[in-house]
Amino acid sequence: MFAARQSFNSLFQKRAFSASARAASKVTVLGAGGGIGQPLSLLLKLNPRVTELALYDIRGGPGVAADLSHINTNSTVTGYNPDAAGLADALKGSEIILIPAGVPRKPGMTRDDLFNTNASIVNSTVPIVSEVYKARGVYNPKRLFGVTTLDVVRASRFISQVQKTDPSNEKVPVVGGHSGVTIVPLLSQSGHPSIAGEARDALVNRIQFGGDEVVKAKDGAGSATLSMAMAGARFAESLLRAAQGEKGVIEPTFVDSPLYKDQGVDFFASRVELGPNGVEKIHPVGQVNEYEQKLLDAALVDLKKNIQKGVDFVKANP
Ligand SMILES: NC(=O)c1ccc[n+]([C@@H]2O[C@H](COP(=O)([O-])OP(=O)(O)OC[C@H]3O[C@@H](n4cnc5c(N)ncnc54)[C@H](O)[C@@H]3O)[C@@H](O)[C@H]2O)c1
Repeated sequence: MFAARQSFNSLFQKRAFSASARAASKVTVLGAGGGIGQPLSLLLKLNPRVTELALYDIRGGPGVAADLSHINTNSTVTGYNPDAAGLADALKGSEIILIPAGVPRKPGMTRDDLFNTNASIVNSTVPIVSEVYKARGVYNPKRLFGVTTLDVVRASRFISQVQKTDPSNEKVPVVGGHSGVTIVPLLSQSGHPSIAGEARDALVNRIQFGGDEVVKAKDGAGSATLSMAMAGARFAESLLRAAQGEKGVIEPTFVDSPLYKDQGVDFFASRVELGPNGVEKIHPVGQVNEYEQKLLDAALVDLKKNIQKGVDFVKANP
């Protein structure tokens, strides 16, 4: 799943960021009828920062919208189908566009296996979108985000289960990407830097491959939807807080990043400070230990391939 902070009034018109625009926050969900899209839309309907919710899907957008529109919060909810102007109307004037559209994993599939049918893995989709935007002359690297929040959410939950602590107090930076070994939890920067040996291996493995637990348990019915909806809603909330002027809002997210460009890796997830224009500051990975450096090295190898795959996909499908 990924998110874009719109800078266009209509799709291709730059919009001035006025105080009134700040007060009115339209959020669009593309793929709103899906397993992630529905609970994500529900959480957005409950978010008082959202004033207008536009729900688009190739099937079922208006139904989800009608249902959510009865919830007694002030935001308006409108559903759109892919008819004549459906998509354009859903996007018009939107502050944030959340895209949980696609096909979820089945048991035994890696995220990379999805690529040919779906091209929906964050590591490759963000480069795909950036290439498409570049081709249209509207790419703004500060406003395109791969949502890796679920990895951070899982990391704090899993470490709390091992340490028997409150997960809301656990902060584990997770950097790299959003696919298997590209997910690099930095336990040395968490509140439990001394976890080592088998306990560390098990925890890191669970964070990297936690999504597989859900895919297996759902037994063919898809991948994480409810936890992903929560993660997507948290990321949207952070974007809105930053857009509405709050300082110091930081989320790990997969963005066009200078950190490893010298190694040919153009996109990377690290802690990113968000602001009214999207990316405000990309924080470096910081001090890592030898174990984490090895994880990082392995992640960079895969990330480079994932990103290239996205770029090649656009070249082959202009
Ligand atoms: N970033 C993450 O952490 C993360 C986590 C879990 C799943 N995902 C991905 O999110 C995506 C959605 O997962 P899901 O479980 O909700 O799947 P789902 O099949 O339940 O829902 C997908 C929805 O997208 C819609 N859709 C498909 N093509 C569309 C298009 N061109 N325009 C608009 N809508 C379209 C479908 O009609 C469906 O309603 C998958 O690609 C999955 O791999 C990402």
